[in-house]
Amino acid sequence: MGPERFLSVSFRSFQRHDLPVLAKISRDNMAHIIRCAWGVEWKDELLFDTLCDEDAQTEILEIDGKIIGYYCIFIEDKRVFIASIQVARAYQHRGYGAAMIKRIEAIATRLNAERVELWVQSNNEEAIGFYEHMGFRIVARQRNNLLMRKFVPPLNKRGHQQFRRDFNGRTLA
Ligand SMILES: CC(C)(COP(=O)(O)OP(=O)(O)OC[C@H]1O[C@@H](n2cnc3c(N)ncnc32)[C@H](O)[C@@H]1OP(=O)(O)O)[C@@H](O)C(=O)NCCC(=O)NCCS
Repeated sequence: MGPERFLSVSFRSFQRHDLPVLAKISRDNMAHIIRCAWGVEWKDELLFDTLCDEDAQTEILEIDGKIIGYYCIFIEDKRVFIASIQVARAYQHRGYGAAMIKRIEAIATRLNAERVELWVQSNNEEAIGFYEHMGFRIVARQRNNLLMRKFVPPLNKRGHQQFRRDFNGRTLA
């Protein structure tokens, strides 16, 4: 047996040149789900619009410099909304999705948000099971879409004073 090799797993901020890779990961994961749930074809442009929205905050998950996943969130008053969370197929079921959810929850806690929410297609049973496992619950339904929510623990005073910027360095009100 050769020497044990440790993978370098890291997060970094999204950059526009990441778009083609993120589109491929998302398309491979989501095209069939979108087609079944909404009866429409996947469009990269809709993802680009979301990721390039000036209020979107996206982090890239890399292993040894290779993009294997990402999440995109919007920070609102009391809510952190997950617009997209994707792990490349070959890397699913290895704990990376959980790592991203925990990172999002840490952001929510530091921002004094009360909850994390997302919409998921009702036919995306794998993702629904994952979210439920992570502590989310279904709170509403609109056609073939489910709103899922998880309340985050209340902020302690120290954390509130420490966190004045988001992870892109933007100052928060
Ligand atoms: C959904 C997704 C983000 C989950 O990420 P992942 O890396 O595959 O999941 P993880 O390996 O981190 O799973 C974390 C835990 O959830 C559990 N879990 C995952 N899927 C589950 C399911 N369907 N039912 C029950 N538990 C599940 C795992 O067993 C694991 O438990 P453990 O921590 O006790 O071992 C990923 O599979 C994905 O990108 N799917 C396609 C895109 C998608 O549907 N995104 C969501 C759009 S709304």
